[in-house]
Amino acid sequence: MKILALQGSPRPAGYTQMVLDPFLESARSRGAETETIFLAKQKIRPCIGCYTRWYKTPGICIHKNDDMPALLEKLKACDVAVYATPLHYFGMISYMKVFSERMMPLILPQLVELNGETGHPHRDPDAGPDRIVLLSVCGFPEISHFDALVAPFRLLTRYGKPSLAGVLPRPGSESMLFMDKLGKKGKAVMEGFFRAGREIVDLERVSPETEAVCSQPWTTNLRSFRDQANLYWDIRTEHHERTRRGEETRPFEEAVRKDIRMLLGGMAGRFSPEFRELKAKLQFDVTGEQPGQWRLVMTDGYCGFCTGPADRPDLIIRTPSEVWIAIMEGRLNGAEAFAEGKYTAEGDLNLLMGPQKLFGAA
Ligand SMILES: Cc1cc2nc3c(=O)[nH]c(=O)nc-3n(C[C@H](O)[C@H](O)[C@H](O)COP(=O)(O)O)c2cc1C
Repeated sequence: MKILALQGSPRPAGYTQMVLDPFLESARSRGAETETIFLAKQKIRPCIGCYTRWYKTPGICIHKNDDMPALLEKLKACDVAVYATPLHYFGMISYMKVFSERMMPLILPQLVELNGETGHPHRDPDAGPDRIVLLSVCGFPEISHFDALVAPFRLLTRYGKPSLAGVLPRPGSESMLFMDKLGKKGKAVMEGFFRAGREIVDLERVSPETEAVCSQPWTTNLRSFRDQANLYWDIRTEHHERTRRGEETRPFEEAVRKDIRMLLGGMAGRFSPEFRELKAKLQFDVTGEQPGQWRLVMTDGYCGFCTGPADRPDLIIRTPSEVWIAIMEGRLNGAEAFAEGKYTAEGDLNLLMGPQKLFGAA
């Protein structure tokens, strides 16, 4: 089986690639041949709507001196085409749209009835993929953002060939920068993409169960998701400024993962909604490399993360940033570090004893 992946992201190491990689790897492990085309690197001129390929030079586009003729040959020779695109403005990325419009030489001008509707027949019914898979990532956390992206793929495949053999949209893509914090769910999602690649070879389609695993929401706590995303962008802007001033040398991806605010904000994001009745304020007085004062405020099953002291905090934790980061990263046992005086806590220690439970939500 030949699988051609049409990768639309201009970021070859971005999130589209992050989910495409396990898909292709497992397909290869089942004997498939795979090739990835990075559409952003191809020279593909946009269709000018002249219809030359239909009435003047049948099957041949007016644009002959770009990469599209060779890409069409690859498309004709594959069994499965994987459309891998980041969601851009509710739809496929422009590189993929330009590519798709240039596929017109593969169909004939005639209008015929296809499955009860009007369509164009294939120029060569035996050429081209029998199946297509749509794989996508988007920044927003809700699956509904993909509605307009999926629609044209359903329309494109409603005649039977090619069939839509898998729909794998992954919302909340940027959270995958913090894969370790996504815990079991992160692992399950990546395994889902791996399984999808295996299924496309073994079953010739991705099962609905695997599709559901790949697209499952990271969280139902969307308010916290938005808080964390906003914090991420604040830190990114600040990192850029610090770099510009020569005060920061680490790449952003490394710096943000070690930022105490991201870690404390992440705790807030994992606040378990089962503690709906709990009203509590936790204040962090942080010293060390990243000094500052922050608070977590829990009420109505939501935990907010803010800068500054809490009004009458239930618990104050005083810690060097390095110690708290080590605890959050699992390099230091929280209870042992407390017993050893690496950090101190004043107030309702029950809040301290149960942080795994309090902040353990997926
Ligand atoms: C121009 C542009 C438009 C975008 N539009 C959307 C959108 O409509 N909905 C959404 O959830 N994310 C949107 N995003 C976010 C991307 O889908 C997200 O960052 C994705 O992870 C990018 O994939 P990549 O890392 O493979 O490039 C947009 C990003 C850009 C740059």
